[in-house]
Amino acid sequence: MNDVLDKLAARIKAARRLTILTGAGVSAASGVPTFRGQEGLWRQYRAEDLATPEAFARDPRLVWEWYDWRRQLIAGCRPNAAHGVIAAWSKRHGTAVITQNVDDLHLAAGTQGLIRIHGSIWELSCWGRCSQGATPWRDDRVPLDQPRCPHCGQLARPAVVWFGESLRREDVEAATSATACDVFLTVGTSAIVYPAAGLIHEARDHGAFTAEINLEATPASSAVDVAIQGAAEEVLPAVDALL
Ligand code: APR
Repeated sequence: MNDVLDKLAARIKAARRLTILTGAGVSAASGVPTFRGQEGLWRQYRAEDLATPEAFARDPRLVWEWYDWRRQLIAGCRPNAAHGVIAAWSKRHGTAVITQNVDDLHLAAGTQGLIRIHGSIWELSCWGRCSQGATPWRDDRVPLDQPRCPHCGQLARPAVVWFGESLRREDVEAATSATACDVFLTVGTSAIVYPAAGLIHEARDHGAFTAEINLEATPASSAVDVAIQGAAEEVLPAVDALL
C-alpha cells in the first residue's frame, strides 16, 4: 500500500495539471448515502427509478419526497477529511475538481473552481421551463413541499441532471478541457454513469497518469495506472502527508 501512495504522491507533486473527479463515496463519511450498494435504496426505489424526467412527470410528489429526504439529510452533514484535502489541493495552480455530487460539500470545504456536472440539490428550476425559471435559483429551505416557480407559478424541479438529460454545455467543456492533465485522480465513484465515467479514458488518451481511490474495484480499476482500495477520507490525507 505504501508503495502506491508514494507513487501517487510523487506524480501529484510533479504534476503541472492535476484533475480530480469525485463521486458519492467522497461524501459517504459525512453521512450522505451513496446511490449504489447496500444503502443505495430509498424505500424500494433505486436512483434510476426516480432521477428521470419520466418519473417526475408521472409522480412529482414522490420524486420531491425523495429529494426532500436527501436535502434534510445533507443539511445536517459536514465536509469530511477527503473534502478537506481536495479543497486544499484545489488552491494549487493547475488543479481542476469535477464532481458528480450535488450535495455541495466540496463548496462547504472551500474547493475552488468546482465543476458540478450534475448540478446542485440546493438549486431549483421551472419544470415548465418558463423563460425566467429556466435559470436555476437557490432554495435551501428544509423541509420543502412541492415548491413552485417564483416566476410563473408552475411546479419547480430540482436543478440536477437526471438520467436521460444532457449535462450543461459549459460543464462538459470545462470537464473535457480538464482531461488534458498530467494526473487524473478519480475518487469514490462507481465509474458506471456516463459521461463522467468516460473522462478518465479521455485523460489516459491525453497521456495522463491515472489513479483511482475507492473502497472496492470498479470498471475503471483495470484501466488506471494505480488503483488504491481504501476510504477516501483516509487515503487522501495519507497522500497529502507525503507531498
Ligand atoms: N471512500 C471511497 N470510496 C467509497 C467510500 C469511501 N468512504 N464509500 C463508498 N465508496 C465508493 C463505492 O465503492 C462506490 O463505488 O463510492 C462509490 C459510490 O458509487 P455510486 O453510489 O454509484 O455514486 P456515483 O459514482 O457518484 O454515482 C454517479 O449516479 O445516480 C447517479 O447522478 C447520480 O452522481 C450520481 C451518479
